[in-house]
Amino acid sequence: MSTKTSLQKTLGTWLTIGVTLLWLLGVIASGLVARHEMNEVFDSALEETAQRILPLAVTDILNREGDTGLQRALALKEHDEYLTYLIRDKSGNLLLQSHDADPRIFGAIPQEGFSETSTHRIYGESAISGTLYIEVAEPLAHRRVAVLETSLALLLPLILLIPISLVGVWWVIRRSLREVLLLQQSIEVRGGGDLSPVAVDRLPEEFGPIMISVNRLLDRLRRALEAERSFTANSAHELRTPLATALAKLQRLKVETQDVRVKTQAGEIEVSLRTLSRLSEKLLELAKAEGGGALSEHRHDLVPILRMIASDYEHQAPGKIELNLPDGDVTSLLDLDAFAILARNLIENALRHGADDQPVNISLTGDGILRVVNRGEIVSPEKLALLRNRFVRSSTKAVGSGIGLAIVEAIASGAGITLTLRSPASGQSDGFEAELNIAVVDAHS
Ligand SMILES: Nc1ncnc2c1ncn2[C@@H]1O[C@H](COP(=O)(O)OP(=O)(O)O)[C@@H](O)[C@H]1O
Ligand SMILES: [Mg+2]
Repeated sequence: MSTKTSLQKTLGTWLTIGVTLLWLLGVIASGLVARHEMNEVFDSALEETAQRILPLAVTDILNREGDTGLQRALALKEHDEYLTYLIRDKSGNLLLQSHDADPRIFGAIPQEGFSETSTHRIYGESAISGTLYIEVAEPLAHRRVAVLETSLALLLPLILLIPISLVGVWWVIRRSLREVLLLQQSIEVRGGGDLSPVAVDRLPEEFGPIMISVNRLLDRLRRALEAERSFTANSAHELRTPLATALAKLQRLKVETQDVRVKTQAGEIEVSLRTLSRLSEKLLELAKAEGGGALSEHRHDLVPILRMIASDYEHQAPGKIELNLPDGDVTSLLDLDAFAILARNLIENALRHGADDQPVNISLTGDGILRVVNRGEIVSPEKLALLRNRFVRSSTKAVGSGIGLAIVEAIASGAGITLTLRSPASGQSDGFEAELNIAVVDAHS
């Protein structure tokens, strides 16, 4: 999972980073504009102040009688001055200063208009034909603080914006991906048995082609499987009649001929033909099992069927069948024919591949667990894993085609049952065990 990226995570992260960056750019731009505008307002206030004070200061100075020295404007109340001013003559001699003013921050010679030192913004204005000068100073720090506070106020919404953007994007994507998730689930639940087209309403447009492709693929798969099954079924079916005819003719030949060599050869051919005939029967069973129909509409009691099948085999191999059936019914949705085919294949295998001198144990419990157990050599785990594939046989001398377990597997999976193979059988040191729970049939599979 680590190498895969989540759309939700990627979009959430990048959209949030994008929104944050854009907001920061916005804050910087508005900070610059605000600073420019504030400077204009502050400058105009500075100018206005100078022009207001100047006439008062001029009157004050002119009214002094003979006393030309420095005077400090009286503070009405002790306070920190935000704007300070000096009144000087042309050559820089101080005539009047506001009570907090520090002459060191002003230039040696008074200047008209705006000027800036490293700490202050100064505005100078002259009166009486340039003989008296007023200079008003305002600390730059004040302006900086104002700009900084404005920018900080603009930054503040980011604290909310980042989580809202993350949650918002997450939510929107989650909502839009809901249908995609439905599509994914509906593809996921489709087993080999269900190849019907997937259909999800209100799928986002971008995912439409995926659904179409999946459906096209499912359709092709279904057609391929159907073609394969019908080919198997047809060829097996078509082989029946010629095989039966050939067998009949051989048997007649065996009876009619007096030649011993011809008789033995006919016997050998008959064995081969019978193998071929069994193979075609098995192929037909497999095609039917894979074609579905492992389920019936109603529940049936399977105990009597199993009893009947077991007694069939008891006739064929007397004393080799041990049967344990429950007292009550075991009902299942498994189709009766399918169950019979399944049970026959398992029992046939146990008789054919198990130890000759030991009986086969067939048991069905009240809760539907069917077990067919025989003694005999242990099958290696690697081999065991492959046995349910078609035409796979372990190195056995017994006749067979390697299709029996494939038929059982096809019926089981068609009914949603798990076939478990064990070797050695549970509770034994050798042998083979096939187990399935026939009561757990999934009607939707
Ligand atoms: N009851 C069993 N005991 C031992 N081996 C078994 C048993 N059932 C199946 N096998 C092994 O699994 C192989 C495949 O079984 P199957 O598909 O029925 O084919 P076949 O019986 O025609 O050989 C068999 O050849 C055999 O080696
Ligand atoms: Mg078999």
